[in-house]
Amino acid sequence: MDKFNFTLEETDGRARTGLIETPHGNIETPIFMPVGTVGSVKTISPAELTDDIGAQIILGNTYHLHLRPGDEVVAKHGGLAKFNSWNKPTLTDSGGFQVFSLAEMNKITDEGVHFRSHLDGSRLFISPEESIRIQQNIGADIMMAFDECVSLPSERQYVVEAMERTYRWAQRSFDARTRDDQALFGIIQGGVEKDLRKISAEQITSIPFDGFAIGGLSVGEEIPVMYDICSHTTEFMPKDKPRYLMGVGTPQDLLHGISYGVDMFDCVMPTRNARNGLLFTSRGKLHIKRKEWELSDAPVDANCNCYTCRNFSRGYLRHLWKAGEYLGMRLNSLHNLHFYLSLVKRARNAIKLGVYNNFMKETLEEMSVGGE
Ligand code: GUN
Ligand code: ZN
Repeated sequence: MDKFNFTLEETDGRARTGLIETPHGNIETPIFMPVGTVGSVKTISPAELTDDIGAQIILGNTYHLHLRPGDEVVAKHGGLAKFNSWNKPTLTDSGGFQVFSLAEMNKITDEGVHFRSHLDGSRLFISPEESIRIQQNIGADIMMAFDECVSLPSERQYVVEAMERTYRWAQRSFDARTRDDQALFGIIQGGVEKDLRKISAEQITSIPFDGFAIGGLSVGEEIPVMYDICSHTTEFMPKDKPRYLMGVGTPQDLLHGISYGVDMFDCVMPTRNARNGLLFTSRGKLHIKRKEWELSDAPVDANCNCYTCRNFSRGYLRHLWKAGEYLGMRLNSLHNLHFYLSLVKRARNAIKLGVYNNFMKETLEEMSVGGE
């Protein structure tokens, strides 16, 4: 797809910076992608995403947008980026993962997945071909192949079956594409078994996708295992294509992923936690509901220059949380997303300066001292 391009810029150890060019604009990597499941990043406007947060690409979900408002409706509105007035790069996940985690009665066959809508219980079916058809209607700059993510722990035999099916579905996803203005990424599976991860990486990267993702992590395994498998898997991924670690994670996870050569991340954690009053800071996590902040006039993070930290005290944010005010959720989401986007920006700068390892070590140490 010639409207999509990845240029690898600097490397520092295995960490790397790069530039992704898409029809809706450019993305500097490593990057964090805020999640806009139904087309909106919960509580945050596109202007805030751009001006206050520095987001460069946001996610949408095939499963949700197919159910509501319907992918044909999004298509008639000119595609997701126009429909939600973000007008910048977007990526859609392929639907399988959301079906497995949200829908009831999912029955997996080689053809595809049968499930019931979590909205009205109606019977639905998504196959690789159907996922690509829907994603083409949604019109994101980057589409994802349809895959099967197994929850962990799982029997090795089942992990093998899902991995082989993911390979067949990857080829079918690739062949189903009829538009040439959307990139398509393949997804590597294989659970937490290193030999399977190598096989899956070889299978998926044998198909000329525009980029490659590591799926099936952060689904029940221990954190050190996740790091080990992520590090192992990137070894078998091409250097000249973007690498995306799906659904991960904490600020610490991002720093580790970047050190293994991952370029893209997405996670609901900054937005979901914000709505629950949990804030990420340079000195660790902070629960805004705590009584100890009642009289605090300090910002959430003295090192943060987001709109929330520039204007509001912990005491006021605690009050908003206690009162159940929507503004509290918005201000918390603004801060958390700003924290994630500034973290990856600082990581990019450190890589360019050739000091990524030191940056990572110092940042991790500082985040571990607080523990508020
Ligand atoms: N989001 C988080 N993990 C996964 C995965 O393994 N597959 C897909 N499609 N989406 C994900
Ligand atoms: Zn802030």
